[in-house]
Amino acid sequence: MFWRNGAMILIAVLLAASAVSRAAEPVEAKAATSKPDTRQLVEMPEEAQRLLRSDMFDHLVVITLLMGHLAASEFEQASELAETRLGNSARGRHRGTGFGPGRFMPPGMHQLGFGMHQSATDFAKIAKDEDLPSALSALRRVTNSCVACHAGFRIR
Ligand code: HEC
Repeated sequence: MFWRNGAMILIAVLLAASAVSRAAEPVEAKAATSKPDTRQLVEMPEEAQRLLRSDMFDHLVVITLLMGHLAASEFEQASELAETRLGNSARGRHRGTGFGPGRFMPPGMHQLGFGMHQSATDFAKIAKDEDLPSALSALRRVTNSCVACHAGFRIR
C-alpha cells in the first residue's frame, strides 16, 4: 500500500522534514566529497570493514523503512524497528567475532556511534507519542549522527 502511493507520501514527508529542519539546529558538516578530504582515516582489518559496510547498508535500509512507517502513521512499527535494528538494542552485534568494527574505532568515532544508537532509542520512545512532527524531528537527530560520523571519519 505504501509503495503504491510512495511518491506522494515521500514528497509529503520531505516537505514535513524540511519544515522540521528549519526549526532544528543546522548540521555543520562538510560533505564527505569536499576537497581536501579532511576525514580521519581509521584502519581496521578487512573483516571488520566488511561488517561495518554491511551494518551501514542496513542502517540506510532502516532509515528508509522508518520514513515509510511514519508516512503511513505506523508509529508502533517505527518504534520497534528503530529500537531493534538501530537503537541501543542493536549495539555490539558482532561482539565475540573479534572483528566488531567498534573495537577499532578511535574514542571520538566510538562516541558518535553510541550517539547514533542512543538517538535511535530516543526516536523509538518519541515515536510512541504518535506525533509526526516530533517523530520526524527525532529521526533527523538520528540522521544527523550519520552525517556527523561520515563527515569526520573514513576507513579507506
Ligand atoms: C560511528 C561512525 C558512523 C556512523 C554513526 C554512521 N556511519 Fe555510515 N559509515 C561510516 C564509515 C567509516 C563508513 C565507510 C566510509 C569509507 O568507505 O571510508 C560508512 C559507510 C556508510 C555507507 C556506505 C556503505 C558501503 O557499502 O560502502 C552507508 C550507506 C552508510 N554508512 C550509512 C549510514 C547511515 C544511514 C547511518 C546512520 C543511521 C550511518 N551510516 C552512521 C561510519 C559511520
